Amino acid sequence: MHALIINGSPRVKKLSNTDKILDKFEAGMAEKGATFTRYEVSDRKQWDDMRKAFGENKNILIAIPLYVENIPGLLIEFLETLTPKNDGTEIAFILQGGFAEGVQLRCGEAYLKILTEKLGCKYAGTLVKGDNFGIRFVDEKTVQKITGAYTDMGREYAECGNFFSEKCAKFTGPEIFPVHIRLLVGIIFKTLAKRGFKKAAKDWGCTKPLNYRPYK
Ligand SMILES: Cc1cc2nc3c(=O)[nH]c(=O)nc-3n(C[C@H](O)[C@H](O)[C@H](O)COP(=O)(O)O)c2cc1C
Repeated sequence: MHALIINGSPRVKKLSNTDKILDKFEAGMAEKGATFTRYEVSDRKQWDDMRKAFGENKNILIAIPLYVENIPGLLIEFLETLTPKNDGTEIAFILQGGFAEGVQLRCGEAYLKILTEKLGCKYAGTLVKGDNFGIRFVDEKTVQKITGAYTDMGREYAECGNFFSEKCAKFTGPEIFPVHIRLLVGIIFKTLAKRGFKKAAKDWGCTKPLNYRPYK
């Protein structure tokens, strides 16, 4: 199997969580003898080649970070430049986000089915998983642990060409947290996480408070 892989994140390769996820996913594919060519939507210089590759490839995988409950605008902008095809091409998706509950990504997943039809292709499923905020912030060992889980899914994709198996469905993890966990997460966000966000903002040179509303 050969797949065209597109990283749909607007973040440049060096800073993209999706990119680190794809490194591990592709390692799993390679173990099973599959080959791939990867492009980054964040690099507009690649768009002509990506369009050409979209026309030539029959197995396409688009990896997407959730941005404000949605597909990143830059990816949509690229997809709108494609000419729909009707040659049996299959598109599968990796849809990943920061928040952990699977339910959060379901609206995006539903949209991806419609999008595939609009591109004249066959839907090969979406690998849904959240809890990936940390990749950008945590130490290398933890990054390896979070992203490493995707290697097995790479093997699965190389073997099946889609994400329809029970194993892929289980990969999502919790669809929604039980009430006591939700309450706990709420407290953590108001205390520990808030402190963490403040520190990150300060480290990045932010001089105003996070709730600063200059236009109020
Ligand atoms: C502007 C912005 C909006 C985001 N919106 C969501 C969201 O609605 N839901 C979610 O689960 N994660 C959200 N995230 C988190 C990203 O999906 C997550 O960090 C992802 O791993 C980023 O991948 P990337 O670095 O390849 O772009 C958002 C991140 C940013 C920067």
